[in-house]
Amino acid sequence: TGALRIALLGHGTVGAETARALTGRGAELAARIGAPVELAGIALSRPRTLPGIDSSLITTDAQALVSRGDIDVVVELIGGVEPARSLVVAAMEAGASVVTANKALIASEGVDLHRIARKQGVGLAYEAAVAGAVPVLRPLRQSLAGDRLRRVTGIVNGTTNFILDRMTGAGGTFQGALHEAQRLGYAEADPTADVCGADAAAKMAIVARLAFDTELPFDDVHFEGITHIGPGDIAHAEANGCVIKLVGICDRTPDGVNARVHPMMIPRDHPLAGVRDADNGILVEAEAAGELMFHGAGAGGLATSSAVLGDLVELCRDRVAGTGQAPADFSQVLPVIPVAQV
Ligand code: HSE
Repeated sequence: TGALRIALLGHGTVGAETARALTGRGAELAARIGAPVELAGIALSRPRTLPGIDSSLITTDAQALVSRGDIDVVVELIGGVEPARSLVVAAMEAGASVVTANKALIASEGVDLHRIARKQGVGLAYEAAVAGAVPVLRPLRQSLAGDRLRRVTGIVNGTTNFILDRMTGAGGTFQGALHEAQRLGYAEADPTADVCGADAAAKMAIVARLAFDTELPFDDVHFEGITHIGPGDIAHAEANGCVIKLVGICDRTPDGVNARVHPMMIPRDHPLAGVRDADNGILVEAEAAGELMFHGAGAGGLATSSAVLGDLVELCRDRVAGTGQAPADFSQVLPVIPVAQV
């Protein structure tokens, strides 16, 4: 048909917004890409109907959907390492490019997934995995690729920033704020990863790799969460002109690259102290560029879908341009030369 075929895995907070955009704003996205796009299937864990989505597109067999061979881009929004990893690998082996928002997956398997993508000649993009709508991975990987980075300091978990923000000044409770963050779609399905710091650590592993060109393993990122922070700590910080934030830091040390996540007292006039609600803020220090601050919506379905769709448009454009895509299947126009004759 000529249309680029998109398969969506998952229909949670981010998946629902992405599906809504694909069905409601298809023409607009097509204009951005320069070719029509069509939603070719949505894989769900349990069968159900989705408003505005043709039921023939819905399947519970994600493996079959990604292996079909006629999908251009698979958008993985399931979360967690498995089955997401197997599905992403199967998709790339079937010649599809992959967009994912899955920080746990990229933090633990990203190096391998990049190798597979290169081998298959397909694209792999995950801007949405770090800091929601805030574009930070592309600037690190592309715009700042010619500079020397010194340090990246960031608030990269919206849920914990929201909780600490509510506990500060307004006197909200940890549990009350966590429930509100869940209701607003900021928290993970299991918010343990948010509050224990693991979600932020996964994001910092990804940031560190792109900032410093290293294969930093996720297990090397030390992390500590915010569950032990009480009103006394908040009051103590306030009395000292500070706020408490869950901060991720990665920098180059004489021994290599180090990444860590832990609560910190930040002076009120520091740029990261002004990061409120579920926003994220990332301060990049580079030798030539100096200090750059990236700030905006770090969580939530609609905001995060912006980054997912940005990656989708880029990978679709690459396929239209004939780069970052699997070698075309020439078997129908050219005879295949058996290896023995080459
Ligand atoms: N649960 C995550 C957060 C979602 O609160 O930041 C965005 O990755």
